[in-house]
Amino acid sequence: MTTKEEWIEKDLKYVWHPDTQMKQYEDKDFKPTLIERGEGIYLYDIDGHKYIDGVSSWWVNTLGHSNPKLNSVLTQQAQKIEHVLLADFTHIPAIELAEKLVKLAGEPFSKVFYSDDGSTAVEVALKMAYQYWYQKGKPEKKYFVSMTDSYHGDTLGSVSVGGIDIYKKIFNPLVFETLKVRAPYCYRCPENKVRDCCRIDCIKDVEKLFKTRHNEIAAMIVEPLVQGAAGMRMYPASYLTKLRELCNEYDILLIDDEVAMAFGRTGKYFAFEHACIKPDIFCVAKGITAGYIPLAATITTDKIYDAFYDDFSSLKTFYHGHSFTGNPVACAVAVENLKIMEQEHVIDNLQSKIEKLKQCLKKFTTLEHVGDVRQTGMIGAVEMVKNKSSKEPYPFEERTGHRVFKEALKNGALLRPIGNVIYFMPPYVIKNEEIEKLTEIAYNAIKIVTEQN
Ligand SMILES: Cc1ncc(COP(=O)(O)O)c(C=O)c1O
Repeated sequence: MTTKEEWIEKDLKYVWHPDTQMKQYEDKDFKPTLIERGEGIYLYDIDGHKYIDGVSSWWVNTLGHSNPKLNSVLTQQAQKIEHVLLADFTHIPAIELAEKLVKLAGEPFSKVFYSDDGSTAVEVALKMAYQYWYQKGKPEKKYFVSMTDSYHGDTLGSVSVGGIDIYKKIFNPLVFETLKVRAPYCYRCPENKVRDCCRIDCIKDVEKLFKTRHNEIAAMIVEPLVQGAAGMRMYPASYLTKLRELCNEYDILLIDDEVAMAFGRTGKYFAFEHACIKPDIFCVAKGITAGYIPLAATITTDKIYDAFYDDFSSLKTFYHGHSFTGNPVACAVAVENLKIMEQEHVIDNLQSKIEKLKQCLKKFTTLEHVGDVRQTGMIGAVEMVKNKSSKEPYPFEERTGHRVFKEALKNGALLRPIGNVIYFMPPYVIKNEEIEKLTEIAYNAIKIVTEQN
């Protein structure tokens, strides 16, 4: 039988891991964790140690690992049809899911375009928006506006609208030109205002840009309420409301990248509901299958769809499609996920857990090296700083967040950081006492690591 050590050796030999400096990964004192199975909020390694999945395995898992109802639907669907193309052919799971998504999102949404993951959902949205204007006779509307420090995926189109150096800088010669506006990063407010009582003055950047260049702008793309990969930076819903008004005023499409936020993460099905707005196009992935299998959708309205709807010879077809577009197994799991969410009142039940998380986050503010504690729905984030009064960050090379991650892992919690930000984004099936435990492990780990500095 292959031993754990042999598996790890083979892993290092054959697997190139994502977002990972492989030389660091070979660290003799910190071996990769070999996960064998999962159940609910827990991951179990091959030695039987269990870890609370504090980040929902990259923000995807919502209803717990190895959920019996989802397992059953998955196997049943695989026995019927595991995959079939979605051009000139169709299947019930894709139809059922599209109907459910349209109804959940409400009017004016009417059409669902499937793809494979968050990045492809964004690629679809960008191409759709550009082709929309092209077919409306305005090919000069070709620029996309996005925020500084935004993240929309790792494919080249989504990297183009991204704004985080580590994902983008090297590829600058390859990506297309986009327009950037300052992100509303409330902890380090560009206007020196205080969160929750500002008047969204930072949006004046957007207004200025729209005013001067609206004739060339196809769309603005945003991560709603939370810039996830930037370090769970949160901003008020009123910013989105104002953004919608500006897009209307200047005839610019609003693309809402809900890849990380949709399906309850913010406490509502979609983050745009907090702002009482509807985007023109929105992207979902991750939680659509409760984190089970890759699937994504780009959802839009008749206004957009109608610009593509014509005779074949008009060449207005949207020529975009991935091999696994609308995979039946993924769609069936997604349908079941949405049924469970509705029948078991998952979002209503989340509200008390959101409140619990809020209480548990309070204690972090007392720590000497915690500069900001923030929360949006079922996401809590703690930003560590070298100096609390000046907000001076820990230098990148000190890997403070990573040291907290290692310390927490020893104590049974997976808390993969983003730089100096430790965040909580657990599956929704977490219980109140488990929220207490998760935050307690993080609190102690932060205390130990920051006191060592
Ligand atoms: C807002 C947002 N958009 C797009 C993506 C890309 O999704 P994927 O990793 O599934 O390609 C992510 C991933 O974290 C994301 O957070």
